[in-house]
Amino acid sequence: MNPRTLRPGIHWLGAIDWDRRLFDALIPIPEGTSYNAYHVQGAAKAALFDSADPAFLELFLRQVASLPAPDYVVAHHAEPDHSGCLPDVMRACPSAVLLCTPKAQGMLCDLLPDLPADRIRPVADGERIDLGGRTLRFVHTPWVHWPETMVTFLEEDRGLFSCDLFGSHLATSKLWAEDDARTLPGARLYYAQIMMAYATVVRKNLEKVRALDPAWIAPSHGPVHAQPAAILGAYGSWLNDPPLRKAVMVRVSTHGSTAAMADRLVAGLVARGIDVEPFDACSLQVDRYASALVDASALVIAAPAIWDGPHPAALLAMTIAAGLKPKARVVATLGSYGWSPKALLDPAARMPGLKAQFLPPVTAKGAPRAEAFAAVDAMAASIDDAIRPSAP
Ligand SMILES: Cc1cc2nc3c(=O)[nH]c(=O)nc-3n(C[C@H](O)[C@H](O)[C@H](O)COP(=O)(O)O)c2cc1C
Ligand SMILES: [Fe+2]
Ligand SMILES: [Fe+2]
Repeated sequence: MNPRTLRPGIHWLGAIDWDRRLFDALIPIPEGTSYNAYHVQGAAKAALFDSADPAFLELFLRQVASLPAPDYVVAHHAEPDHSGCLPDVMRACPSAVLLCTPKAQGMLCDLLPDLPADRIRPVADGERIDLGGRTLRFVHTPWVHWPETMVTFLEEDRGLFSCDLFGSHLATSKLWAEDDARTLPGARLYYAQIMMAYATVVRKNLEKVRALDPAWIAPSHGPVHAQPAAILGAYGSWLNDPPLRKAVMVRVSTHGSTAAMADRLVAGLVARGIDVEPFDACSLQVDRYASALVDASALVIAAPAIWDGPHPAALLAMTIAAGLKPKARVVATLGSYGWSPKALLDPAARMPGLKAQFLPPVTAKGAPRAEAFAAVDAMAASIDDAIRPSAP
């Protein structure tokens, strides 16, 4: 793929990774992804924003060589899917200066030993650089999703280069996001996996970039947002809306005892008008799971005791939920055990990242009897109470 013109004097370059199916060695990306870089030409100078995943180094260097040599290379983010080609880019462009946040300076050098450290210049929040009729304004946006991240606002064009923020894992030949129905699920997945864990800071950064009133937003994954209202509105909703009357349920059962308890809980929740989105722990689709957690008000883990703890497949789901820090208000756990309930008794300790209310676990020795089912029914009522809008 050759560089593509986004607007006169502004080019997209980078790579569309049609075949990639797993990100961060953990997260399925069924629609692939892209690594977007951008080249901006002013009357006097040129700037390159970010690079591509190093798997596409050769292609990327060819693209850079086909455009006017950049005076500035801007690294919005130190993560190698965007910074990985920078050492070679700096070698190929010997007069370029690399601009990044002060925090990114150290992180880029940590990750990329070949980067020429003496050619890196940190930029301050709000600092401007004039390319000749085109002004770059650097806006520090820490924790979207690493501590060193920033975005660049191209003032005259009112374009925002947002790197991972507002990105979507979506491989498409379309440069501009024309179809929100296709782009937004990919962006939601991206938000869930990458941004949700830092929601408090992302919320502040969302307000900071909203104030810029961008006319278009060019992220580092997925297509460019021609109508930013859709993606800005979606981020506002994912970050700020109260969660839905919906429980995400992760379930696993070796011989059916825990499954019987889980089924009883589903019936109780459904009877109360609470939707249940079930996930099989042993074939956990991490992408769908993370996406479902964005607007769930309850998380239910149904897992038996295995090796002195909840079933390992459930532990993975618990670890992921604790890391993603969704806005669920309540966590409910239940399961069967063979000889000691101890393994199932302290779910809060296994999910320390969650600020939710943890209900007392419901356990059954072997197959559940009337007493266990009554406790499960009470658990459905407690979940209902906990997720009412008036609940604390
Ligand atoms: C590999 C394995 C390890 C187990 N470890 C424990 C344990 O540490 N503590 C315990 O009380 N029960 C343990 N059990 C017993 C199960 O928790 C028990 O059979 C339970 O009823 C299974 O519920 P399920 O049918 O929902 O899977 C273990 C069972 C298996 C197969
Ligand atoms: Fe990233
Ligand atoms: Fe990225």
